[in-house]
Amino acid sequence: MIKRPTSRALPGPAGLPHPPHCARLPQMVRGSSLSRRQFLAAGSSLAGASLAGGIYWTRHLWGQGPPSGDRYASKGGLLEAPLEARFGPGQVIGRPANVFSFNGRVPAPLLEARAGDTIRISYTNLLPEVSNIHYHGLHVDPTGRGDNVFLEIQPGEPFLYEFTLPPYHPAGTFWYHPHVHGSTARQLGGGMVGMLIVRAALDDIPEIAAATEYFMILKDFGIRPDGSAGPGPSLTVNGRENPTLTIQQGGLIRLRILNASIDRYFRLQLEEHPLHQIGTDGGGLPQRVAMDELLMAPAERSDILILGDRPPGSYRLLTLPYQSQIADLALMPEMATPAQTAPQVLATITYQGRADRTVGLPDRLVTVDPLPPPTLPLRTFEFHTTALPGGFVFQINGKDFDHHRVDTEVLLDTIEDWEITNSDPLDHPVHLHTNSFQILGADGQPEHAWRDIMNVRAQTSRRFRVQFLDYPGRAVYHCHRVAHGDLGMMAVIEMQNSFPPRARMR
Ligand code: CU
Ligand code: CU
Ligand code: CU
Repeated sequence: MIKRPTSRALPGPAGLPHPPHCARLPQMVRGSSLSRRQFLAAGSSLAGASLAGGIYWTRHLWGQGPPSGDRYASKGGLLEAPLEARFGPGQVIGRPANVFSFNGRVPAPLLEARAGDTIRISYTNLLPEVSNIHYHGLHVDPTGRGDNVFLEIQPGEPFLYEFTLPPYHPAGTFWYHPHVHGSTARQLGGGMVGMLIVRAALDDIPEIAAATEYFMILKDFGIRPDGSAGPGPSLTVNGRENPTLTIQQGGLIRLRILNASIDRYFRLQLEEHPLHQIGTDGGGLPQRVAMDELLMAPAERSDILILGDRPPGSYRLLTLPYQSQIADLALMPEMATPAQTAPQVLATITYQGRADRTVGLPDRLVTVDPLPPPTLPLRTFEFHTTALPGGFVFQINGKDFDHHRVDTEVLLDTIEDWEITNSDPLDHPVHLHTNSFQILGADGQPEHAWRDIMNVRAQTSRRFRVQFLDYPGRAVYHCHRVAHGDLGMMAVIEMQNSFPPRARMR
């Protein structure tokens, strides 16, 4: 990736006034602000959602371009898109269901920008409850009209999001979803997810530019007895079960994969084909890495190339069993993802035709400079779940989330190592907003890869190194098994300017 400057003192755009907050709800009743009947009533009163299931697919298959409204790309340095949060009739798994959506589409429109572009989203909350948008993984201003997850946009209210990607922003597969504490599992789990692509140097590598590009949002869905969509037993790609992708003999396809499930892990394997990884959550890798299987924790992304060098036929993209829980916590069984015992099919890749010219795999990709060791002491966090009479509380360092409390103060331009200890018998995928990090290996060296999700396996510890750059203000870090975050496993970080303003003005 393009090297980021190490020193910037300018604050971001002036923040908006702090939004009014609702009174803090008791821990165990969050996330149930609306009854099912209210939801259904709201759904039937909203404009009918026309669902375009499955056209979110590939530039190649679109031919003359995608149907309008399914994709918004920047023009002249500006990405403009209207996004309406809705709850109402739609479709998942090929069946009618009441879905949470942006613009009635599951998945939501694909947004595409280039590093340096401005993103302007005219948002309207047509849900019968508070919502907002988080631009997951972007290195942008976390305050004001930026990636501000403290906003609570009321039912019926519009809001204009507007922020600028720095010109050195890495290319990557980012995404957007609602992020209101206590309702994220319901809204994201019910269908509100879209991809946000940032193109930069990685996309200009000739072999990668020539590859047919697929956008694949992995998500488990089910339809509840009341007719609403939520997490469930069906494993889908862009809301559909087992879609077919095509590859040419001698051709190259690029799979941008997002795990948008709120609790489920995917362990990917493509029959008889290695997966050539070229990018992680937050950007490209220095070299491609060939792998037989790839674990994707909730909210992780991966950028993969597949070479069409096998005999013509159909090959299954599988997800293999993965144990994300080593013991039965008896932990709210309604929240748990049922254990998978056998491989399941996610999609089928079929050979079709022959490439005009054989496309090779690229070897050298983009520069990822490892972060130098920090000068500050190690910061430690314990992610732990405590049983209380009547339920569980999910905590970080013994505290559950309070958006009025700053848990961690850091200085811009400094580098820190964070150690996350997971003392629970189940995995916690840890997510930090605003700044991507590099995971430290067993040898203590940083991985040459940018990520914003670090899966910490049950009863283990793991470290990452992060440099806080560019943007002062408050953001959050939390577990991205979304129900854990909703129930308290989230905390506030405040990034502060390294020097007082007067010193900066000299
Ligand atoms: Cu997220
Ligand atoms: Cu968790
Ligand atoms: Cu978050």
